[in-house]
Amino acid sequence: MESKNAAYIARAKEILAQMTLEEKVAQMVQVPYAMVGREEALRWAKLGAGSFLHVLGDDAREVQQAACSTRLGIPVIFGIDAVRGHALNDHATVFPTQLACACTWDREIAREMGRVTAREVATDGLHWTFSPLLCLSRDTRWGRVNETFGEDPYLTGELAAAIIEGYQGDSLDDEESILACAKHYYAYGEAVGARDACDSEITYRKAREVFLPPFKKAVDAGCASFMTAYGSIDGTPLTIDRHSLKDILRDEMGFEGFVVTDWDNMSSLVKQQFVAEDTDEAARLAAEAGNDMIMTSVAFYDSAVKLVREGRLDEAVIDEAVLHILTIKAKMGLFEHPEKKGRPGCFGCAEHMDAALRTAQRSITLLRNDGVLPIAPSCKKIAVIGANADDVRAQYGDWTYFTHPLPDPDHVPVRPYTTIREGVEELAKAKGASCVYARGCGPIASDEDDLPSAVEAAKGADVIVYVVGDVVSQVGEGKDRADLSLSGRQTELFRQLRALNIPLVTVLCASKPLAMGDAAEQADAVVVAFNGGATGGKAVAQALFGEINPSGRLPISFPRHSGQVPVYYNQLPGWHKLVDKQKYCDLPETPLYVFGEGLSYTDFAYENMTFDPQTMKASVQVSNTGARAGLETVQVYFRDLVSSVMTPVKNLIAYKQVELAPGETKTVEIKLERMDFALVNRREERVVEPGEFMLMVGHSSKDADLLTVKFAL
Ligand code: NOJ
Repeated sequence: MESKNAAYIARAKEILAQMTLEEKVAQMVQVPYAMVGREEALRWAKLGAGSFLHVLGDDAREVQQAACSTRLGIPVIFGIDAVRGHALNDHATVFPTQLACACTWDREIAREMGRVTAREVATDGLHWTFSPLLCLSRDTRWGRVNETFGEDPYLTGELAAAIIEGYQGDSLDDEESILACAKHYYAYGEAVGARDACDSEITYRKAREVFLPPFKKAVDAGCASFMTAYGSIDGTPLTIDRHSLKDILRDEMGFEGFVVTDWDNMSSLVKQQFVAEDTDEAARLAAEAGNDMIMTSVAFYDSAVKLVREGRLDEAVIDEAVLHILTIKAKMGLFEHPEKKGRPGCFGCAEHMDAALRTAQRSITLLRNDGVLPIAPSCKKIAVIGANADDVRAQYGDWTYFTHPLPDPDHVPVRPYTTIREGVEELAKAKGASCVYARGCGPIASDEDDLPSAVEAAKGADVIVYVVGDVVSQVGEGKDRADLSLSGRQTELFRQLRALNIPLVTVLCASKPLAMGDAAEQADAVVVAFNGGATGGKAVAQALFGEINPSGRLPISFPRHSGQVPVYYNQLPGWHKLVDKQKYCDLPETPLYVFGEGLSYTDFAYENMTFDPQTMKASVQVSNTGARAGLETVQVYFRDLVSSVMTPVKNLIAYKQVELAPGETKTVEIKLERMDFALVNRREERVVEPGEFMLMVGHSSKDADLLTVKFAL
């Protein structure tokens, strides 16, 4: 079958035929601008380097001019980590993190986030975002949980496809479209002990069952590039895993874009993973395995040229890689227009800030509410306590201009933002209530901590909003946590506030699920905001006061204790139950909050579920039994009751969101496919094994929230 890209491939081949070996190898090099500096970057542009990363605006334009004035004038593509808006640029719109976005479960929200990001990135003269991240957060001690769509392969794949469509638009040569990059291929989030970049002790069968499906959806959505993971699977670094990069990604999945390594992956083969003697061997292994572009390890250039000249690396390997890169450059229309126009003036414009606010609002997830929320009009004094209530850096979290490309905690924000404190103050004022704020303490113990003043400030309040969480020094690459409990003196302060016997709401402003302990279990209400970006504080305040009805659902489970991790919902069965009531002898076996959970200011009831295995149609009646309009996420899970390999106790296979007015009932129909019920057998084939299955439909992944029917296939 002819490739959809045939015309672009033909164009790329014409250019390739004119290139010297040096020019070809240079196309495979991606230069880190912020690390090498301007002079060196311009030298690389004149050598014909194919790509640069971490360079913005006019600096990028200068590099592009240098590239375009070379013999063949092949334009450069600029890559950037625009993973939650174009947030490395301090003029751009800072969205909530990918994890917060996942709380919305909303494909349209993800698509819009992608579209807005693309527009701002393109307006900055750049072409490519290293997003989305499709690793699963199953061991939440990992430092990069905030960058994921949570723990579930199905939800991750759905939101990934949507955000990719947003980035890439209808056509890559659109002025406002950029390249997406599915990363990190693959099982990077599964490293043993959540140790960043370590080995993943999984099999290819397990990979096909759990970790590869989101990447397949990315390929099907037309994702133009893939990034290889730092890590290894069963001792083979992904950087040299030809089976994964060629047989699975290209031959099976049908990927036609180009593959870039992650940061210095090639050098890691020598310096960290010890599978290559020297840079030459590493360059050969990385190229032969199917990496088309080498991020940061610029030594690749000399090594690859030498290897080909000495007959140690087949030039055809280089040609194939360069063809992949040039094909995408042609598809983007770069040879005609090296720079995209984007939409001048769009940075942080009202339309984009609205989109960020919508994402933040829809991400707010209410996990407990003994009736204290929404804050009643009779509340005249509100106490907001906790450093994260008024810390824009903590609210932003990772991957903004505060943290990358080089950490810059003192950066003065250009665009307006609203912290939780500011959001609550503004709404309190509008409602004629007063608001006091005290820092109390932050996630990292410091001399500034002052618990007595915070307790004093809270006295006499009608409600306390206590904001807990983490800060950027606890988040990101190289910041895995062994202990997920609330750090610093946050629990101590919670207990002192609780002792005041004032209604108490805990808000989590953090990068990931923390083991919140008393701060969750003894609070009157718990609200999860994760890192909400520029408008995050406003969205939290609106939820607290009931201006919006929270509709977030957890894309990830919360442990009660670090030692319980992993607590993802779709575990294999078989855990022995030796003690009568529980499987751990010192803790309940259940997570504190589980995947799919989330309350609102109304209630939903499920009835009359049916499933017809002939037509594959499921249906259920959902009613809003409360007094407010609300948005429900109808979740569909299944279990294969007896199978040749063990299968998870339940797996999400579909969901649908439905708006319901008070008292309204809707019949929700969901069409499934036979292959939704597949497993991966011991021969690594995806098959549906005949037998009995259980379909489960309801409000969350909790058994108590699900209606079930058994059926046979
Ligand atoms: C390393 C990270 O692992 C990856 O996610 C990121 O895109 C690259 N660095 C580029 O900054």
